[in-house]
Amino acid sequence: MGPAVSGTRKAKLWGGRFRQDTAKSVLAFTSSLPFDRRLYREDIAGSIAHARMLAKQGIISSTEGEAIVNGLVALREEMDRGQFAFDPHLEDIHTAIELALAERIGEVAGKLHTGRSRNDQVALDLRLYVKGAIDQLTGLIQGLERALVGLAEAHVQTIMPGYTHTQRAQPVLLAHHLLAYFEMLERDRERLGDCRRRADVLPLGSGALAGTTFNIDRDFVARELGFGQVSRNSLDAVSDRDFIVEFLAAASLVMAHLSRLAEEVVLWSTPEFGFLTLDQAYATGSSIMPQKLNPDPAELVRGKAGRVFGHLVGMLATLKALPLSYSRDLQEDKEGLFDTVDTVQASLEVLAGLFSTVKVNAPAMRRAAQEGYATATDAADYLARRGLPFRQAHEIVGQLVRYAEERGKALAELSLEEFRRFSALFREDIHQALTVEASVAARDVYGGTAPGQVQARLEEAKRILGMPADGP
Ligand code: ARG
Repeated sequence: MGPAVSGTRKAKLWGGRFRQDTAKSVLAFTSSLPFDRRLYREDIAGSIAHARMLAKQGIISSTEGEAIVNGLVALREEMDRGQFAFDPHLEDIHTAIELALAERIGEVAGKLHTGRSRNDQVALDLRLYVKGAIDQLTGLIQGLERALVGLAEAHVQTIMPGYTHTQRAQPVLLAHHLLAYFEMLERDRERLGDCRRRADVLPLGSGALAGTTFNIDRDFVARELGFGQVSRNSLDAVSDRDFIVEFLAAASLVMAHLSRLAEEVVLWSTPEFGFLTLDQAYATGSSIMPQKLNPDPAELVRGKAGRVFGHLVGMLATLKALPLSYSRDLQEDKEGLFDTVDTVQASLEVLAGLFSTVKVNAPAMRRAAQEGYATATDAADYLARRGLPFRQAHEIVGQLVRYAEERGKALAELSLEEFRRFSALFREDIHQALTVEASVAARDVYGGTAPGQVQARLEEAKRILGMPADGP
């Protein structure tokens, strides 16, 4: 154990009952200031609302209330300008702000913490922070959605192979494929909005765990800070981090979706696919191979999904079996949360830029859709529409594919006579039915890839995103 630290200057909010100083190693081990300083704006907002309430209730005088509020506002400006020097020996952001306030306005600063504990204070800061983060990320999700929808709009005619098992399956419109991600991202926005509703509960007024003896006005504080609800159980309010778990879970799904999209960028920009050419601003080079244009930004989005999932599991593990109410374990809620916000934010921004600048190689997509017997299902549907049970139709077209494959031909390159060797139900219109255009047009079911269906969903997406009706 290292030597005890003593300070001439006050460095703690709880020195009174201690005769010995805290070990240096313990100070460093327990301090959250290196990361929770990020909460200074939330902490000051909460303190201003609390001080106003204390003055309104006559718990402190209005002159004291004003002095505290003005001091906090000045401190916030100092911190906004980056001019505030954080003392690394302090325990957390709450301590740093309260001590700095005392240095500026004197003893009256000591009245701010009346009827409050750091336990309900930190819960408040985190709820304010999560609400703000959700608003910010929701906006960035819309930014990516706009980029995807803009690209979809330019490609309502572009036909590509749709895949199952990463094998060419059936032709689809590129716009349909891109709009699939719009659907995922819309669910993400909904989930975040849902999480926000449960974060929108004021915990302040719960005290350390049991409530407070002062005649406080919790509804007033809730209104001041824009909370829709006030917590109903003080023990729960200081212990609850469910809203962080929910946020991390919603963020994990965002990253799962982004990693799938990123993986498609990686695949599609290979010369083997040749579907996309990345803008040089969204690719990186190799230090040894001069020809390389690597999709590193997309790969990193794919890779960073893992750490966000890790933060979710880490938070759950921290909460598991914690007895009520507050325990210092809960301080572990912050770093994973902050890193998640940073990671999701950066990933959304990078992908939005990537998709606003990427070049689509429509002829390569079309070629790939025409190869690989992607319209074989259409041949089977053709026979089934003429009365053959689908299972038999499937069998016949399977034989047809094998026959064509052995001759190195596409289905459409077989003659009518050859088709009729397999089934007399084939007519002159079979060639037309096997084009990729006919294949997508035939899937004219709600939610299907027919151009009319895709166009309708595209218009809806643009309306949801507030994009002009004619043009991205
Ligand atoms: N830094 C602490 C945290 O993040 C603040 C609350 C401290 N409360 C306490 N009783 N030590 O959880």
